[in-house]
Amino acid sequence: MYSKEFEESLKAVEAAREANIAYEPTRMTAKEKDDLLAAYHPDYKKSEFSTLKIGPNKGETVPHELCDMLQAHSRISAADIDLSDVKYDVDVLIIGGGGAGSSAAIEADNAGAKAMIVTKLRIGDANTMMAEGGIQAADKPNDSPVIHFVDAFGGGHYAAKRELLAKLVCDAPDAIKWLNDMGVEFDKAPDGTMITTHGGGTSRKRMHAAKDYSGAEIMRTLRDEVLNRGIPVVDFTAAIELILDEDGKAAGAVLMNMETHELMVARAKTVIIATGGAGRMHYQGFPTSNHYGATADGLVLGYRVGAKLLYADTLQYHPTGAAFPQQIFGALVTEKVRSLGAKLVNREGKVFMHPLETRDVAAAAIIRECSDREEGVETGSGKAVWLDTPMIEKIGGDGTIEKRIPAMMRMFMNYGIDIRKEPILVYPTLHYQNGGLDIDVSGMTTNVENLFVAGEAVGGIHGRNRLMGNSLLDIIVFGRTAGTNAAKKAKETEVKKLTLDHIAKFDAERAAAGIETDAVSPKLLPNYTDRKSEI
Ligand code: FUM
Repeated sequence: MYSKEFEESLKAVEAAREANIAYEPTRMTAKEKDDLLAAYHPDYKKSEFSTLKIGPNKGETVPHELCDMLQAHSRISAADIDLSDVKYDVDVLIIGGGGAGSSAAIEADNAGAKAMIVTKLRIGDANTMMAEGGIQAADKPNDSPVIHFVDAFGGGHYAAKRELLAKLVCDAPDAIKWLNDMGVEFDKAPDGTMITTHGGGTSRKRMHAAKDYSGAEIMRTLRDEVLNRGIPVVDFTAAIELILDEDGKAAGAVLMNMETHELMVARAKTVIIATGGAGRMHYQGFPTSNHYGATADGLVLGYRVGAKLLYADTLQYHPTGAAFPQQIFGALVTEKVRSLGAKLVNREGKVFMHPLETRDVAAAAIIRECSDREEGVETGSGKAVWLDTPMIEKIGGDGTIEKRIPAMMRMFMNYGIDIRKEPILVYPTLHYQNGGLDIDVSGMTTNVENLFVAGEAVGGIHGRNRLMGNSLLDIIVFGRTAGTNAAKKAKETEVKKLTLDHIAKFDAERAAAGIETDAVSPKLLPNYTDRKSEI
């Protein structure tokens, strides 16, 4: 099944394996990293970005595809909707049924609020479910939230909003306890202590995991909790426009049934956007590790009512997306594979970087290997490098792969590749949106009252690059925070007359800026029938 070049490269990797296990590559200097990123990381490719001409971030650059959605037309006009015909009337409306939305719903319920989740797919159909490697928390004696902060702040290029990152790391140990108490089956040693490992950019082993399906295990538990409490969940129903009240506060959303396209009004005292990421926007033509529904909807909804974005020009390309076989092109190969000892090697079997560099640096190094250096292996869908998985068994002993990363093993075994014996081919895949809506520590947007955000739709928690395991953490910490505070705010809120006036205002801004477009947003689902966007 493999070409001659492929077979020869495989032999070179096998021949170099023992020496590569012993080899300790040096870490890059800060300058080397900066130069590498500037030359090879997709975020630095200026031609792939457009300048926003309207809205609160006017003058800033974002990926072309996001710019089109942020400046697009609403799916409705105010005349289409009778705002007095209220179908759902709640305290806290949560848009999105992933980990952040579910955590928010649980805490809003704890605070005595009438909460409701709406989701365009089903509860749990979200990036949370697909997360593999784990969740960080400094809860071991040799670690502390301060050390966690330093790792994440440096890894994010010192750009994180300090107060958000401080909250993330300080609330982390309690987030793990909350999940554990709720029933998440974390990996534990026989004495009951949590097993923790390193991730790229961590100076302590603080990655808690449930094998390599950590997100699925967390989502299973959160979903059960939401459903057991009887919190209403409206499935297959998208929020397509936020509703403000006449004082400009968030006061609900226009909902659309995904099958019938029926429009409905949900009135709420507070609203939480927990719509997740943007991998299905396929920025720069990249494949993605993301869920089918990851189309940046929350950013669009928030932007149109005037909520500011922070760092919407920075995305995370996970260094190790599956590059072969074609059927799993772009699927996530968890970073845990590297934290268990597998190294990245090129066509000649040469280790070309330290295995635990941060993700942006690792992705850029792989892209360099596959472009200018011509050290990638041709896969049929482009070039890729090897991730030498058999090293894991040699380092950790027979059975390590099956025990610690069984999902990885199964995914490749489906295509006849036994990762215990053969290395795998990887290339960066679009994984995470570092930027998003700007919030304060209460979880509320900085400039639209009563509009809260949690999870991947938030910008600024991680700066310009996120460390592994800090996303499962942020959905819990900021999901819980948004739920608690939105419930509290709901208690002191009286909703005034509902309006959709912002739509006409945005239309006028677009016309004044001379933007001509037929695009409508939010996107809701990727369009794989349009050959241009097909990956
Ligand atoms: O590599 C991974 O397992 C991904 C983890 C993350 O994005 O936090």
